[in-house]
Amino acid sequence: MDRARIVDRLLIDADRERRDVVEALLAPAARVSPKYFYDEMGCALYGAICRLAEYYPTRTEMALFEANRGEIAKAVGAGRQFVDLGAGDSRKGQGWIPFLAPSRYVAVDIAAHEIEVSLARIATDFPALELVGLATDFTHALDLEGVLDGSPALFFYPGSSIGNFTPTQAVGFLSRIRGHCSARPGSGLLIGVDGKKDKAVLDAAYDDALGVTAAFNLNVLRHLNVRYGFDFDVAAFRHVGFYDEALGRIEMHLEAKRETIVHLDGLERVFRAGERIHTENSCKYHPGEFEALLREAGFATIRRWDAPAGGYFVFHAA
Ligand code: AVI
Repeated sequence: MDRARIVDRLLIDADRERRDVVEALLAPAARVSPKYFYDEMGCALYGAICRLAEYYPTRTEMALFEANRGEIAKAVGAGRQFVDLGAGDSRKGQGWIPFLAPSRYVAVDIAAHEIEVSLARIATDFPALELVGLATDFTHALDLEGVLDGSPALFFYPGSSIGNFTPTQAVGFLSRIRGHCSARPGSGLLIGVDGKKDKAVLDAAYDDALGVTAAFNLNVLRHLNVRYGFDFDVAAFRHVGFYDEALGRIEMHLEAKRETIVHLDGLERVFRAGERIHTENSCKYHPGEFEALLREAGFATIRRWDAPAGGYFVFHAA
């Protein structure tokens, strides 16, 4: 594991982060950033979600990659620095190493423990590959100083995680990636995007029969209790996840089953029965809608592959 260099840019401003969390929970329309899903328990639950029959994105994207590996590899080019955004367990990124022969593999994630475990595994499987772990909340800023050199890079953002931004936020994020690409001519972005589809399919994917997504959502309160010393009564909330057809997005909320009080750094927040905390959006796109976002962000050369089963897309943008 010593072969991997870990760069920790997580705790840039811990006090401000804490204030932001409290402020968002005290707001009349309470919310929590989805980044707080991903403590160790949350990562394990997300891994379980990806194996659910109802949660199609992971296996649909994998089938798309398997069906198009050679063609995609040819389009994106070999020998680049491979930047795995939201790498998680790095299994998706690792699958590309034999096809793309990257000059360096960079795992970027907010979950530092996941990076360490996955890089240890990659180090065993690819002993000659340079490995870097960057622990950061890249949804706000992506500081690659001292992580990448000036040679071409491939930014890999699979899993339809781009859906967790609103379209406006997505353009901001894509523009920042585009900036990193422009600074290294020959660079590009390979990104997975979930398509709009039947409400029944989407509702089930985010409210599964086993209740794994419910546990993933509720775990955010347990995580905040551990992290910040809050006293959420997790049992007083229930998971709500549904597709809003007008907005073209899944919304996840935690709804108070009865009146409940939480203490947040000395301040009291009462949640009335039925009141909700908004925890996540997961936007779904028609291919043309997403291509327009890529163009707005400054990408000019765009190529798309469709999943064999339909309803899921991978774009290469340069
Ligand atoms: C990480 N992200 C792409 C997942 C999604 O589908 O929006 C997170 C998730 N939330 C509930 N289930 C999965």
